[in-house]
Amino acid sequence: MSNETTNPQDAWSFETLQVHAGQTPDAATGARALPIYQTTSFVFEDAAQAAGRFALAETGPIYTRIGNPTVDVVESRIAALEGGVGGLLLASGQSATTLAILNIAEHGDEIVASPNLYGGTVNLLQHTLAKYGITTRWVENPDDPESWRAAATPRTKLFFGETIANPKSAILDIEAVAAVAHEVGVPLVVDNTIATPYLIKPLEHGADIIIHSATKYLGGHGTSIAGVLVDGGTFDWSADPERFPNYNTPDPTYNGLVYKDLGAPAFILKARVQLLRDLGPAVSPFNAFLIGQGIETLSLRVERHVDNAREVAEFLQAQEQVTRVAYASLPSSPWYERAQKYAPKGAGAVLAFELEGGYAAGLAFVDALKLHSNVANIGDVRSLVIHPASTTHSQLNPAELEAAGVNPGLVRLAVGIENIADILADLELGLHAAAAFTSASATQPATAGA
Ligand SMILES: Cc1ncc(COP(=O)(O)O)c(C=O)c1O
Repeated sequence: MSNETTNPQDAWSFETLQVHAGQTPDAATGARALPIYQTTSFVFEDAAQAAGRFALAETGPIYTRIGNPTVDVVESRIAALEGGVGGLLLASGQSATTLAILNIAEHGDEIVASPNLYGGTVNLLQHTLAKYGITTRWVENPDDPESWRAAATPRTKLFFGETIANPKSAILDIEAVAAVAHEVGVPLVVDNTIATPYLIKPLEHGADIIIHSATKYLGGHGTSIAGVLVDGGTFDWSADPERFPNYNTPDPTYNGLVYKDLGAPAFILKARVQLLRDLGPAVSPFNAFLIGQGIETLSLRVERHVDNAREVAEFLQAQEQVTRVAYASLPSSPWYERAQKYAPKGAGAVLAFELEGGYAAGLAFVDALKLHSNVANIGDVRSLVIHPASTTHSQLNPAELEAAGVNPGLVRLAVGIENIADILADLELGLHAAAAFTSASATQPATAGA
């Protein structure tokens, strides 16, 4: 007897899900590609349907701030790729991180976080959320699970880290940190932006909630800002009602709804109907379409990004004036073993390296490149470069720079999908310009070997 409830999607591989998950041809028109429902609101058939939708008694669109058919498809697709029970697409990666935290922690609560984070996330945690009474305890040694435990208190509501953190290319020990989080009684929330679900699936290793800046590899073409939350459906919010009152007590703004009663997708439903409704960082349907378009080729692009990144890392490591290359798929990385475990296909395509010639060499390198674009972004099909000490990290003092792994000669690359020969030829231009600032160049003219 055939099993009528079987969903064929359950058997599909990543490459098939990235093209099909969450989408059937448009019911109204038969459109095969994802239609852009560029509308703010949706006409209700009658008053009873309107009432039912507002009461969550029936599903269906109401108003694009909290849901839209184009956005729905992209949310479902990302959730399917991560293996979660639901997704929520938002206006930016920053809004995804903000909502993830506000959906769990409240005034007077604490979160425990790795210091190896995107600078915007550090600002959010250290300064902005602190103003609203949510404070962060930074883990002293994020590579030691006991250091995570030591930072936890009875007020801790979640653990937070990035699966691959730049510019160190540090890999989070997801299984070990998730185990400590669960012993403490809190969820592990991870930012999986650099890895993408093609390289690392954090839910399979015990993480509970995933964040992406969809602006980066999911969209992939440097056209649209967006973020996403994925709910693993794994965390039991009812286990400790005192720690998580906002899941266990009635929400007066939603007819007394108790979110834990919604079951596995409680986190993502609460984020949508409560926080997205009230705080409003909705993604535009057009940007959702562009993110969806990008996802259709995610595995193909990431494979090429990673192949190119590996070659670039090996090339740079062989250069005399390069004192260190930070890329976790290189055996010289302190996170090499961990990268082999969590990201065997490759540790993404963001890498950094130090030039012996310091700050001036870094500037000269960046200015000499013709193919690479000097931008504060990653995850574009185009190869990108930036000199962190003079840009993204220029506000930090020397101790903070050291902690962030940023020295004056550090250069960050987000390796694109162009032909590798062209990428390497461009890097040669940068190395040639930077050579003028090495110690060897004091006795040897910079033009030698040109
Ligand atoms: C790892 C990571 N997380 C979050 C963000 C924030 O995302 P967005 O710029 O889409 O707000 C970024 C942006 O650079 C990032 O690199």
